[in-house]
Amino acid sequence: MIIAVDGPAASGKGTIAKALARHFGLPHLDTGLLYRAVGLGVLRAGGDPASPDDALAACHFTDDMLDDTGLKSEAAAKAASQVSAYPEVRAALLQRQKDFAGQPGGAVLDGRDIGTVIAPHADAKLFVTASAEVRAERRHRELTGLGLTVHLEAVLHDIRARDERDSARSAAPLRKAEDAALLDTSDLGIDAAVQRALALVEARIRTA
Ligand code: DC
Repeated sequence: MIIAVDGPAASGKGTIAKALARHFGLPHLDTGLLYRAVGLGVLRAGGDPASPDDALAACHFTDDMLDDTGLKSEAAAKAASQVSAYPEVRAALLQRQKDFAGQPGGAVLDGRDIGTVIAPHADAKLFVTASAEVRAERRHRELTGLGLTVHLEAVLHDIRARDERDSARSAAPLRKAEDAALLDTSDLGIDAAVQRALALVEARIRTA
């Protein structure tokens, strides 16, 4: 069974994907980490995330890079959003994701293009979203919880800029697959969002 979970930053898709993986006993891949690894690799090499050559050179990283705490930073997120617009970068990361999705027992993957590109034949697809304001509040709470001083307005601005970049690019833009179930988490706490996601997936599997 393959479950595809897509959506914008801070929509709750990561938490939902992890909970679904635990529930169904499936391995989980946060595909954003792959793009973050490329973005962070460019920054650490002193390169420019706006350069396709620098981005492509950073695509050859090993799995241990995916445990790097630096991947959680806003700098890595921004660089990831930039490098992910290059078709060459997406192509370089494609097989790794398809292999993960193709594991014998199935898998849960979350990202931006799982239901549209990586696993178009997934058994269940969710598109998780929430208003930009709610997502900015969540991210702001998360960052201040880490002891960082950031302004809500700045976080909202970053979220909007990232939404725009991820949605406007021509290579596998962020969009809901036609057959994905829409889950708006704006008015839901995390437990309620997970319960709703579970119900949507179970309904999909039953009718498949
Ligand atoms: O989900 P995230 O915030 O960790 O993703 C970081 C960036 O990576 C995001 O802004 C766009 C890109 N990304 C992508 O293009 N395709 C994916 N499947 C996952 C992430």
